[in-house]
Amino acid sequence: MTRRRVTLMGSTGSVGANAVDVIRRRGGAEAYEVVALTGGRNVALLAEQARELRPELTVIQDEAAYPALQEALAGEGLRLAAGDEAVEAAGGMPADWRLAAIVGAAGLRPSVAAARAGGVLALANKECLVAAGEAFLAAVAQGGGALIPVDSEHSALFQIFEGDQLKAVDRLIVTASGGPFRSWSRERMEAATPEQAAAHPNWSMGLKISVDSASLFNKALEVIEAARLFPVRPDQIEVVVHPQSVVHAMVGYADGSVLAHLGAPDMRTPIAYALGWPERIPAPTPKLDFAALSRLDFEAPDEARFPALRLAREALEAGGLAPCALNGAKEAALEAFLERRIGFLDMAAAVEATLEALAPGGEAYDLQDVFAMDARARRFAADWTHDHRRAFA
Ligand SMILES: NC(=O)c1ccc[n+]([C@@H]2O[C@H](COP(=O)([O-])OP(=O)(O)OC[C@H]3O[C@@H](n4cnc5c(N)ncnc54)[C@H](OP(=O)(O)O)[C@@H]3O)[C@@H](O)[C@H]2O)c1
Repeated sequence: MTRRRVTLMGSTGSVGANAVDVIRRRGGAEAYEVVALTGGRNVALLAEQARELRPELTVIQDEAAYPALQEALAGEGLRLAAGDEAVEAAGGMPADWRLAAIVGAAGLRPSVAAARAGGVLALANKECLVAAGEAFLAAVAQGGGALIPVDSEHSALFQIFEGDQLKAVDRLIVTASGGPFRSWSRERMEAATPEQAAAHPNWSMGLKISVDSASLFNKALEVIEAARLFPVRPDQIEVVVHPQSVVHAMVGYADGSVLAHLGAPDMRTPIAYALGWPERIPAPTPKLDFAALSRLDFEAPDEARFPALRLAREALEAGGLAPCALNGAKEAALEAFLERRIGFLDMAAAVEATLEALAPGGEAYDLQDVFAMDARARRFAADWTHDHRRAFA
């Protein structure tokens, strides 16, 4: 039997390492032909994964880390490369299944290369859909492959959205845990540290998405992601806070039925779904114990403390490159917060100021326009954070 050819972009990240775990438990290099693995800077983990999975190509994005990778894999007979272009080229190598799990807009070029190459694109890198929207979907169409969302909420929607009942779809509901500041006062949030923001109550994730979960910017991106993936109007997409993170998403239909997707908060479930698609395969995720769970709570998000959701709706309404500007500005503001130059709530203020100043609208755009707007929004937001920097202990 021929082994399925898989590529993992961002294999050293939280999603990437979970994907390696799913693949390992399904037979690893004996069951899959690993075409390419890409990492950013984590030489030790990338080398360990490469030794185990024997990829055709192993790429480290950070060129300064290349000598260390060469040293770590000396004598293994593995092909190595470094740099942004090598990551992008890895995305386009012939494969049957590719995981896009680089964090942020940095994943855009490699994910586009993967999309254009066809096959199954398992997309965790939501920023591609948010920033590049229709241009990214055009790349997927050009490749003729299948786009399978890995974000747990969108994997859930993908599984319960009855595409042949489009007229009867009333609303999509994505859940949010509410993050570590769900019950904090605005005053307390003003002074929140990156460590407090990164302490997600339910999910174990990368640093940036954890902080985005605390500000609900992750949910804001997910609302835009859902609007790109499913043929519904933005006003049909709702967010509800659900602190247990057991119900990932729901679809409401015209007859009053609501289909919900439940699962443990473990990324190996949506990764296994995308890896097995169109079949279901086992994942090492713990089974839900309903008796132990005993209750599921839901509440409305507080948009006064979490303006990110309103900003996402406004960006969707403005259309065109507005979501791209939102994402670029958010990434620059997040960087400033992680470096303790601005406060937690300043992130949303920086994004709002950027959207107001650049006023990106509903014009048609291509990938070059996306890169240009991303850069403009980052620059504007970085300047804003410079002008509004504060002294933190
Ligand atoms: N974590 C989750 O549970 C989760 C759930 C749903 C969706 N997502 C989405 O999945 C994506 C990955 O999230 P994550 O939490 O796995 O992030 P993460 O743990 O920070 O991992 C990010 C990956 O991207 C690599 N990377 C960073 N900067 C890069 C660059 N400039 N060029 C190439 N590679 C780069 C990192 O390499 P090094 O670590 O080697 O530096 C790592 O492999 C994000 O878009 C996130 O929103 C994540």
